[in-house]
Amino acid sequence: MKVLIARRVFDSVVERLAAHFEVETNPEDTVFSKAELIARLQGKAGAFITGSERIDAEVLDACPGLKAVCNMAVGYNNIDLAACTARGVLASNTPDVLTETTADFGFALMMATARRMAESEHFLRRGEWSKWAVDMFTGSDVHGATLAILGMGRIGRAIARRGHLGFGMPVIYHNRSRLAPELEAEVGARYVSKEQLLKEADHLVIVLPYSAESHHSIGAAELALMKPQATLTNVARGGIVDDAALAQALRERRIAAAGLDVFEGEPRVHPDLLALPNVVLTPHIASATVKTRLAMANLASDNLIAALTGAAPPTPLNS
Ligand code: DGY
Repeated sequence: MKVLIARRVFDSVVERLAAHFEVETNPEDTVFSKAELIARLQGKAGAFITGSERIDAEVLDACPGLKAVCNMAVGYNNIDLAACTARGVLASNTPDVLTETTADFGFALMMATARRMAESEHFLRRGEWSKWAVDMFTGSDVHGATLAILGMGRIGRAIARRGHLGFGMPVIYHNRSRLAPELEAEVGARYVSKEQLLKEADHLVIVLPYSAESHHSIGAAELALMKPQATLTNVARGGIVDDAALAQALRERRIAAAGLDVFEGEPRVHPDLLALPNVVLTPHIASATVKTRLAMANLASDNLIAALTGAAPPTPLNS
């Protein structure tokens, strides 16, 4: 059986898959266009993909031999799950293995945003630091401030735990469904409406999955509810926040600052965000530690091997 490994991955992962299948790799790490992806998938039974490869009905219909698409990501908005299920194609993702690493990054990005780390570092590098000053780069405290989490899945809970246990933060959250009382107690979180969440937030952290429903969950109307001293951090997906509306709110100081790891239409970044001082911008790296990326790649491989050899994949999205 032939499989495509759509992006450059660890040699050990390629070797593992090559022990089971005839593998086609992408050593140049090109992000394939849809036509190129379809061409590469001809004759393949399986695909090891990342969030950059979109698997939709058109791709599936053009690649009738495809039996499994295994995403090296927990988010799977790049896969049309209904189209996979309708065609009997197994889809999988990589939950759990990246939870703590992504929560570390989300918390770090929130702290960097609150304490103006990027802005002050750029100031220093530009050689503009001539004296210590009382009001130089004053930010807002993280300890004791209200941590507001939008989307209380595994990563949201891991961020809440950090805030609650490590920084004495009152934690509020909004989610489609409310957590069980014991889970709320574990992370010290209180359920509130979305409006209340936005109004009370000192530091808003977005950890929602992206879907048609969550598209532009945060736009001008939502930003208008937030405190002028509040910060917003997004480690979920671009498109959940309306980047143009966010840039305007930041420019007009209707909120204090934003930390963004994900962007609408990334790797393109809205030029208005790039022009602002009060943002910390990172290139979708929240899960990027060597250990976690290897664990994600191995889990995607476990799914691919199982799906094509008749075993039960560990983390299927459909079955
Ligand atoms: C994920 O796992 O969803 C990360 O965003 C990497 O794509």
